[in-house]
Amino acid sequence: VIAMPLHRHQHDASPHIDNSSSLSRKSFPPGFAFGAASSAYQVEGAVKEDGRGPSIWDSFSRQFGRIQDFSNSDVTVDQYHRFQEDGELMADLGLDAYRFSIAWSRIYPDGTGSINQKGVDHYNSVIDALLAKGIEPYVTIYHWDLPQALQDKYAGWLGSEIVNDYVAYADTCFKEFGDRVKHWITLNEPHSLVAEGYAGLGLLAPGRRGLFKSSQKEPYIVGHHLLMAHAATVDIYRKKYQPHQNGMIGITLDSKWYEPYSDSDEDIAAVQRALDFELGWFLHPLVFSDYPKSMRDMVGARLPTFPAEFSTNTLKGSVDFVGINHYTTYFAHNSKFTFLEELLEDNPDSQVITPFKRNGKALGEKAGAIWQYVVPFGIKSLMQYIRTNYKNIPIFITENGYADASHGLTEALQDDKRIHYHQEYLANLLEAIKDGCNVKGYFVWSLLDSWEWNFGYSLKYGLYFVDFKDNLKRYPKASARWYKDFLQN
Ligand code: NOJ
Repeated sequence: VIAMPLHRHQHDASPHIDNSSSLSRKSFPPGFAFGAASSAYQVEGAVKEDGRGPSIWDSFSRQFGRIQDFSNSDVTVDQYHRFQEDGELMADLGLDAYRFSIAWSRIYPDGTGSINQKGVDHYNSVIDALLAKGIEPYVTIYHWDLPQALQDKYAGWLGSEIVNDYVAYADTCFKEFGDRVKHWITLNEPHSLVAEGYAGLGLLAPGRRGLFKSSQKEPYIVGHHLLMAHAATVDIYRKKYQPHQNGMIGITLDSKWYEPYSDSDEDIAAVQRALDFELGWFLHPLVFSDYPKSMRDMVGARLPTFPAEFSTNTLKGSVDFVGINHYTTYFAHNSKFTFLEELLEDNPDSQVITPFKRNGKALGEKAGAIWQYVVPFGIKSLMQYIRTNYKNIPIFITENGYADASHGLTEALQDDKRIHYHQEYLANLLEAIKDGCNVKGYFVWSLLDSWEWNFGYSLKYGLYFVDFKDNLKRYPKASARWYKDFLQN
């Protein structure tokens, strides 16, 4: 059942908000958390240090043709050694919080078995350093860097054994760090992971895709295991740790917003399906105990089912908040797929294609990446949609950021378009809050220029430029100065 009919928006005029430049943190409710985000494999480097085991990204990035610039993240911005210095940058900006992830294979080099104490020590130092500077750690337990050992043992997320191994790893994180970490995120972007790790162009590790995707089961099996692992972990946290640690636990989901390609009922229904197959795939089970109806109808027997008791007792309600990663908005168009579209679109089962443009016109300006358009009202619409359809569940924007091509120092520092992007998205987020949306925080992706998965070092999101030619020196971009001013004045 579709709870709220989707509006026919004014697609061509994205409302311009004049006062966005006078916006500051004081415009937001008291206690609203402002931060920046990162993930272990993108920023740590030190891949062979202190007993870390290899992850699927170490191997994937070495497969020929997987990474656009043939790079890997062996060193990247070396945050493993520079977390003190980076913590000072955060404190200087005036961040309330830093979202980072723990590398599973630093805690369990083989994915399971015995703990690597040096890995635990490292994250203790990071957490303590942040807290000493007044910065709250928001910790992602899993941000795509699966221990290679588990991929070898039972095909990683395709194997049902992953659920217990993930839960054991998460349990160790709560036990070791939960006295100081009060915001836990079980998984980062399960949708991206299934859509590009097991379908699409296979851009993300382990890069499995089948040519005839409509007969493919893997994305659904992996999605299912991710949800089971999440819910079982939350169950343990709530029973064993939450009563005395008093933290919150949630998940981070990615979602674009979609506008109907035309005013036809078919295209309006396509918007709903696009959202169901992206956000709803994971959020619907967490809030309502099962997959969205459109998915069950269209995927049929290929969509696994949850055991009844698990679904109502463990899965349903297994989030204290939901993290949303939001970057852009596209059109949604009701369609069956041509072969080429099957390759390019997220999920042919949805029978939605999602073009950037209609009659040659996109919804906003193009950013520095081929996939990103600047459509600030999209964040507001998405928040309103979650408010209405998902019980106004508390939300943190765990990522929002502007992708730039790689530039030299001088050009990179003058990132006015990034400033504009954040100002406009924040202004629309504030409107959503004033409209009753339950948003609790906002994290810029990212603090530093870093390693961007299949794009390698060719895309940059940082508030700080990192000089990869000169000892990884950090330089504040104009956007860092803007954020500091936003937070402090
Ligand atoms: C999605 C992912 O969570 C993050 O790792 C990535 O770098 C950004 N968004 C930008 O694409």
